[in-house]
Amino acid sequence: MNLDFTQIVPYIPFILEGIGATLKFVSISIVMGFVLGTLLALCKITKIPVLKGFAVFYTSIFRGTPLILQLMIIYFAIPQLTGYDISAFLSAVLAFGLNSAAYISEIIRGGIQAVDRGQTEAAEALGVPYKPMMLNIILPQAFKNILPAMMNEFITLTKESALVSTIGYLDLMRRAQVVGSDIYRNFEPLIFVALIYWIMVYLLTFAGSLVERRLRQSD
Ligand code: ARG
Repeated sequence: MNLDFTQIVPYIPFILEGIGATLKFVSISIVMGFVLGTLLALCKITKIPVLKGFAVFYTSIFRGTPLILQLMIIYFAIPQLTGYDISAFLSAVLAFGLNSAAYISEIIRGGIQAVDRGQTEAAEALGVPYKPMMLNIILPQAFKNILPAMMNEFITLTKESALVSTIGYLDLMRRAQVVGSDIYRNFEPLIFVALIYWIMVYLLTFAGSLVERRLRQSD
């Protein structure tokens, strides 16, 4: 068996820097996806046809085409039209944030619609206006229920982040490939990076279960 993990030792700092590079754009994308996703979900449940139509159309586009294609359109195709180059980092944030918003909007829509209608009716009967009703009554209940689905989405984004290696962004995945071609062996760097992804997802899952337990305490 041809295995020698000592060969990647000099490259370990280089690979570990990829954790920061990956987490940097994934965390921004998550926030962006969450904010946009919440707005889209609200559009989907309104009675205003233009907003509803826009949100449904948006979701069908971003969920109906591959994420890698969206990434490439943002990084390679749009600069052709605008004449401005866009950095790999910004392309990654935009592609992942916009894509995730489509998925998150469906999760949140489901969560809002699962909150008992009586809650809305009671709020309306008490004369609570729409905004405080949503912010203080409906959304907090919805968010508690959708936490597991949200954790799934965050895990998906963390792993799909490896797609940015295709536009040359030096994330974890790309660094493993760089090291692999430098030392002419791929098994060691790829397995090392696989372990890092697994640990990241494990920690994310753990953090999610803490939040879930915390929210359940208030029941
Ligand atoms: N590989 C899938 C695609 O290309 C992943 C989409 C991202 N998924 C998500 N839940 N944000 O469409």
